[in-house]
Amino acid sequence: MEPLVITQGGTVTHEHLERMVLGSEPWLTLGYTGEHLPGILRLFQQNEHLTAHQGNRLAGAAAFTRHWLLGGYLKLLVVDPDLRGGGVGGKLMDALEDLMFQDSPNLFACVSSFNASALAFYHKRGYQKVGVIEQLIVPQHDEILLRKTMGPWRGYKNNKP
Ligand SMILES: CC(C)(COP(=O)(O)OP(=O)(O)OC[C@H]1O[C@@H](n2cnc3c(N)ncnc32)[C@H](O)[C@@H]1OP(=O)(O)O)[C@@H](O)C(=O)NCCC(=O)NCCS
Repeated sequence: MEPLVITQGGTVTHEHLERMVLGSEPWLTLGYTGEHLPGILRLFQQNEHLTAHQGNRLAGAAAFTRHWLLGGYLKLLVVDPDLRGGGVGGKLMDALEDLMFQDSPNLFACVSSFNASALAFYHKRGYQKVGVIEQLIVPQHDEILLRKTMGPWRGYKNNKP
């Protein structure tokens, strides 16, 4: 098998997202359909992102912003359904955390309350629940706000305001 290569940036297309996002949880339960794909694509076009490739194949991707509550915010993380459980998500998160913790001590993410596997994935990586955003996307479910922190912001690696 070809090695996994993580890159800052890289192309994520409508077709990639159709394959990786639609038809998968949590987006099925959250009611995402083809009409939402342009909005999901914009997450990658308008934000910094990381891509994971095996050869020419997009294995996974993460869109994020560096400027959210004295830290970064992971807007979307997705791994190709055929490759889940194979370490791709973990390697994307390793790369993202290396990048974000250079400048600030926090990385935040939201996970749907019913998404037990993603909650387990983040928990294992040291993310803690810091809040519940009730009925953010659909009335039946909440979003759990997670934070991984290296400590208080003041004094962290001489960061600037
Ligand atoms: C959640 C997701 C990003 C994880 O990526 P992945 O490539 O499947 O996860 P990995 O194989 O890298 O797993 C990394 C670690 O998390 C653990 N983990 C993953 N799923 C788990 C689960 N359901 N229960 C317990 N631990 C789990 C693995 O055991 C692994 O630990 P290890 O490195 O000590 O063996 C991926 O499964 C995915 O795209 N899911 C659908 C979309 C989604 O839920 N996105 C996140 C919500 S915003």
